[in-house]
Parts: sequence; structure tokens; C-alpha cells
Amino acid sequence: MKTICFKNYQELSAYTAAEIADAIKEKPSLLLCMASGHTPALTAELLVKKLLEEEIDYSQITFLGLDEWVGLPRENEGSCYHFFTTKLFEPLQLKPSQYFLFDAMSGDLKAECTKMDAVIDSNGGIDLMLVGIGMNGHIGFNEPGTSFTALSHVIELDETTKSVGQKYFKEKTALHQGITIGLGHLINAKKVFLKADGKRKADVIKKR
Ligand code: F6R
Repeated sequence: MKTICFKNYQELSAYTAAEIADAIKEKPSLLLCMASGHTPALTAELLVKKLLEEEIDYSQITFLGLDEWVGLPRENEGSCYHFFTTKLFEPLQLKPSQYFLFDAMSGDLKAECTKMDAVIDSNGGIDLMLVGIGMNGHIGFNEPGTSFTALSHVIELDETTKSVGQKYFKEKTALHQGITIGLGHLINAKKVFLKADGKRKADVIKKR
């Protein structure tokens, strides 16, 4: 594991956007998995800019959304679906066959997990993961204590996740469960960037 400290959010984001772009150049059929949220927002913007300006061929990549709030409609601006659609899929005009996101409104969440695991398995594991870290140390919605072998699963959200998560929503939103790609897939991923931005994440990073 390598730790890199950047001067600011801009530099952290530019570095990871460049790393993703290089990974796509190296492996055009990259299986890329990303978190949503505040930390990767600028990375997504810079990645789109780089791919378009440098005319990098991303027509063969497959994208996976790391997680979603269970029971939240996709059109809600705080959903991970909304984040990925507005920040990546629309600007890059990705084909729907190129991305897989959990349908957190599905009546069969177990089937959603099975589908996600099958995509990951059929591609031989995730090539590149870009994840953030929550104030309680969660990665995706793998709350503290989640097994390191967990595959995709539904989880009861921690109180910290429910309260910190309000920052994504215009109105107070009831959050109960999350659906997430598990740590087992992260451990097996070929490369993982875990990013933390700002002093408020310092303590949790020290503990990890
Ligand atoms: C979101 C996700 C979460 C966030 C984490 C940090 O898809 O997987 O684990 O990465 O809660 O969120 P931000 O980046 O908003 O501080």
C-alpha cells in the first residue's frame, strides 16, 4: 500500500483522473468501479474533460456504481444514480450496456446483488476501484465490522452514515439501508484508490 498526500482537493482529483485515463489507455476494456459523493466529484469532472479532450477511446470500458441508498428513487438528486448519470454517463454518452448500477428500488435486492457479483466475476474481477471513506470509516456502504470477504450485499446503515448522508439531500431524508459492492471485491480488485479529502477525514484515515 502506498500513501500519497496532495496539497489540495484539485491536485488529488487531477491525479486520480489521470490515473483512470491512463488505465483506460492501457486496458480499453477496463472494469471501473467508482463511489459517488463529494470526494470523487471533481475527479469525475476532470476525467470527462481528459477523455474528451485527449480523444481517449473509452467505448469498451464497463462501469460499476459502488453503492446506492435503498428505497431512494433514482431521480432524487442525492442518489448515486443521479451522480453517475449527470457527471459521467451523460457527458460521456456511455451506452446503457456499459454501466451497471444497483436498482435500490427493486423488490428483489438479493437479485440486484447477484447480478452485480456476476458482472464482476464474468470480467475476472474489478480492474480499478475509486472509493472514498466515510466519517465512521465505511467504504462504499461496508460499515465498520463488515467482513473482508463480503460480496455485494444489503446493509443496515450506521447512525453516522444516516446523519452525515443528509448532506447529499435538499430535504431531510429517511435513510435506513444501503446496497453495496462488498469488501471481498475490493480486496480482489487489481488496483484501488482510497481517497480522503480534508482535515475532517484525518482521524478516520489514521485509524484505517
Ligand atoms: C458513496 C460511498 C461512500 C462515500 C463516503 C465519503 O458512493 O461509497 O462510502 O465514499 O461516505 O463520502 P464523501 O466523499 O461525500 O465525503
